[in-house]
Amino acid sequence: MSLLELRDVHTYYGHIHALKGISLRVEEGEIVTLIGSNGAGKSTTLRTISGLVKPRQGEVRFQGKPIHRLPAHQIVALGVGHVPEGRKIFPRLTVEENLEIGAYLENDRKVVQKRKEEVFALFPRLYERRAQKGGTLSGGEQQMLAIGRALMQNPRILLMDEPSMGLAPVLVDFIFEIIQRLNREGRTILLVEQNARLALQIAHRGYVLATGEITLEGPARDLAQNPEVQKAYLGEG
Ligand SMILES: Nc1ncnc2c1ncn2[C@@H]1O[C@H](COP(=O)(O)OP(=O)(O)OP(=O)(O)O)[C@@H](O)[C@H]1O
Ligand SMILES: [Mg+2]
Repeated sequence: MSLLELRDVHTYYGHIHALKGISLRVEEGEIVTLIGSNGAGKSTTLRTISGLVKPRQGEVRFQGKPIHRLPAHQIVALGVGHVPEGRKIFPRLTVEENLEIGAYLENDRKVVQKRKEEVFALFPRLYERRAQKGGTLSGGEQQMLAIGRALMQNPRILLMDEPSMGLAPVLVDFIFEIIQRLNREGRTILLVEQNARLALQIAHRGYVLATGEITLEGPARDLAQNPEVQKAYLGEG
């Protein structure tokens, strides 16, 4: 049984048919990447998994159970963490308050405190800035905060939407190292990226999405060698 599985998922925005029958799976312990051009449906795929939009047809299964009819907060409670595109942190709240909101389903203060310490250990920069308002953080720090906030719920799978977007190369490398570290520590990751080159370097497997459909899938190493992928997404050939 896969940790996460999508079967023939169709998602619409009004009459825009954004996902046209997506099937994919993520096994426990994997980094799986979803690559594709602007508007391909990458964010919609993650939003459909976390229940922010509902599929009109098809199934999303998590740990073998269908979740696509559950409200988003129940999907979070089952262990699906979402780091959204554009970070979406709360600009007027402090770093620490943003993290606490990430653990809003957790009632045990000791657990919340322990998770916060884990996030601060992963991102010492956030500890230094814990009293600072989220909106005054740099782009890289906001990305750290968005990841930290998702980790506060101790998710079994982390859905990451373009974590490298808009970051300087040194910060991109740092965020990718963090993703690999989280994975080594046992976290399963579904990573959406426009930086296909880096994503395919750290992922185990990948899917290529084009206008709402999966066009290619396989081990990340094979995809990186695929001439079509090189031409369309790696700027080669
Ligand atoms: N809220 C919305 N209302 C209407 N159409 C939408 C909405 N969000 C996305 N779409 C459309 O759905 C399609 C898929 O969008 P989506 O954001 O999933 O693409 P993406 O692969 O994440 O793109 P990007 O790389 O630019 O982030 C696009 O055609 C987009 O215009
Ligand atoms: Mg997107």
